[in-house]
Amino acid sequence: MVYAKALCVPDTQSVDAPDGTRLTAARDRIRRRNGLPPMTTNTRLNEKQAANPYVEVDKILAEFNTPQIQCETDSGIATIPLAEEVSFGSWQPEIPEEYWALEADELEQRIRSARARLGEQVVILGHHYQREDIVQFADERGDSFALAQYAAERGESPYIVFCGVHFMAEAADILAAPHQQVILPNIEAGCSMADMAAAPDVYSAWRELEEFFGSTDDIIPVTYMNSAASLKAFCGEHGGVVCTSSNAVKVLEWAFEQGKRVFFFPDQHLGRNTGHAMGIPLDEMVLWNWRRPAGSLGGLAPDQLEGSRIILWQGHCSVHQRFSLKQIEQARQHFPDVQIVVHPECRFEVVQAADANGSTAFIARYVAEAPAGSVIGVGTEINLVSRLAKENPDKTVFCLDPVVCPCSTMYRVHPAYLAWVMESLERGEVVNRIEVPEAIKANAKIALERMLALK
Ligand code: 13P
Ligand code: SF4
Repeated sequence: MVYAKALCVPDTQSVDAPDGTRLTAARDRIRRRNGLPPMTTNTRLNEKQAANPYVEVDKILAEFNTPQIQCETDSGIATIPLAEEVSFGSWQPEIPEEYWALEADELEQRIRSARARLGEQVVILGHHYQREDIVQFADERGDSFALAQYAAERGESPYIVFCGVHFMAEAADILAAPHQQVILPNIEAGCSMADMAAAPDVYSAWRELEEFFGSTDDIIPVTYMNSAASLKAFCGEHGGVVCTSSNAVKVLEWAFEQGKRVFFFPDQHLGRNTGHAMGIPLDEMVLWNWRRPAGSLGGLAPDQLEGSRIILWQGHCSVHQRFSLKQIEQARQHFPDVQIVVHPECRFEVVQAADANGSTAFIARYVAEAPAGSVIGVGTEINLVSRLAKENPDKTVFCLDPVVCPCSTMYRVHPAYLAWVMESLERGEVVNRIEVPEAIKANAKIALERMLALK
């Protein structure tokens, strides 16, 4: 079943209405606030319509006078007080009472005032997936590589307010100058992919590999930036490195100069897509299922491991796994001249069927540099896609998945949290500091600096 025009917020209170419509209490409350009707049967597509959802989405969007195919989360959904949003997510509770009920205008005005008063004391970094009501305050906007680089190179402001997710703020803390403190507005803003690689599971897999091969001297651990600081430290300690989606080929080339095999975590898709781009056959990239009991070689047969060049951790991004080959086929059917650009966290077949793939910064550049009149289908998080659509009004930019959801953890950085951390700084109080323990920091820095040194 395909829903069009869904307000893509985490779906925690869904119920099936008697007429078969799936209603979501929190979602409908927000729709009402934004002057939209609740989802009803006419926003659900039947089987025939679902075969070509773009037609239906076009119609529905026309009804709301929205120019492009996109999830409405992005198309002007107003900021609502934290107290109302909190009903559908996992949010940091210990924020002072006064911030819960603040309306959009007041929040914006208070953040701007705090920003002005703090001046050079603070720099606000914003990842491309942050919502509009946060990104507007960012002094620097970028992909995870650019933001890490910024933290490593710019030591002026004593406070870095990182509007992104936990692993990004950790990387900034590792790379920042000693006098700088990194703040994550909502401590609950994590990454479900990073959570798929728990340090004890990775250490245990490493021990199994050591036992199987007799040594790990020839295996280079490579962790995607989307991982805990402890895993970056593990890589630093074991001759490995960190990569991001913007430098994965370069990093893997370096890794294969150091050893025979790569142990890549946590994103299987980025690892496989990168390995394939380097000419490594698919059967030489094996999948380590960390859910298997210790001692079972991650579910791999000995000859698979023997013949492997990349051992991929079985992790994925739930947002990017939603993109499918079928969506690309439908987009090409509907718009014969469409260009498809996707993030390399998408599945192998999706990346293969796309015209281009790359980091969030790459995607933004791709759209900006496309000639006027281009039609571009994008496979990445909806806040970025809709921003690109707005910033490029001479092009048709749409999300490949008409019901795609935002990254729900990035979304947790609500303006109320930003107002709280900024106003606390004004009082000289640092809240939500992300501080990687020194014992982890040193080795994690080695792995990050190896990455930053690759030209
Ligand atoms: P980028 O490094 O491309 O910004 O990606 C970060 C991320 O989390 C993508 O899901
Ligand atoms: Fe993590 Fe996916 Fe969100 Fe990126 S989009 S922060 S990988 S959950």
